[in-house]
Amino acid sequence: MPELKYIFNDSEHSRELERLRAIEEVFDPASRKRLLAAGLSTGWQCLEVGAGAGSIMRWMADVVGESGRVTAVDTDTRFLESAGLSNVEVFNADVRHLDIENGTFDLVHSRYVLIHIADFDVVLQKMLGLLKPGGWIVIEEPDFSTARAIVGDKAECESVTRLNQAIFQMFANRGIDCSLGVRLPSIFQKLGLQEFFVENDVPLSKGGSGVARVMRMSAEQLAEKYVATGKVSYEDIQRYSAFSESPDSWAVYYSTVGVICRKGTI
Ligand SMILES: C[S@@+](CC[C@H](N)C(=O)[O-])C[C@H]1O[C@@H](n2cnc3c(N)ncnc32)[C@H](O)[C@@H]1O
Repeated sequence: MPELKYIFNDSEHSRELERLRAIEEVFDPASRKRLLAAGLSTGWQCLEVGAGAGSIMRWMADVVGESGRVTAVDTDTRFLESAGLSNVEVFNADVRHLDIENGTFDLVHSRYVLIHIADFDVVLQKMLGLLKPGGWIVIEEPDFSTARAIVGDKAECESVTRLNQAIFQMFANRGIDCSLGVRLPSIFQKLGLQEFFVENDVPLSKGGSGVARVMRMSAEQLAEKYVATGKVSYEDIQRYSAFSESPDSWAVYYSTVGVICRKGTI
């Protein structure tokens, strides 16, 4: 399968950094809880796939300490300054081609990465190969099928509906199911993984709050791609932005499915 360019690849540096930091601010607390639930502790060897702006990479480095190690891989490492972190190694690579020996890691984590990769099953196999027997995998992916405007200006709500259809179409055109999150548990089950913990967070967000801000930034950066789907106009995108900033609007923008499980020992 051809490797498609990551949709935010052409994003301007400071706007993309702002968007990644906003994601971290909203979603890091739940990710940290999941990683600790998997047992993350001093001395562990960890792999952070698609590390983005690096907050989870840095936090894991702090938890594992000098006797542990965090390896981060991303196709775009411009935000991953590891200066001062002697237990962190950053690889500028596509995870599919990461040249590290199988069975190296106690824990592999990724958040909002598989959703961008049509042959995500290849990436999952790669991650599982890199895990030690008995190692933990923590994956967090979105489900955009829950997205809907709940309360707001009528015209703006209609634009939100159209923009949600554009998100679906944009992913579908890339061969990606934008409900991937909800399918993950079954995918992991079929792969024979063990000791499952599954969570499905569906934040109901007020305009101007964390998730609404993240999705407004995404819409503004991806405007051209959304319009190219034929489902939405630039006026819809302006109304979506106004909706997501309005303190009187409420919406579900997407849910996040977190799966924690363990590779078998045989
Ligand atoms: C939506 S961002 C999420 C960043 C971070 N995981 C977070 O949740 O804060 C997706 C990240 O995955 C990276 N990425 C996309 N495809 C990748 C691939 N094939 N291999 C490694 N990284 C990839 C992107 O460059 C980007 O940094």
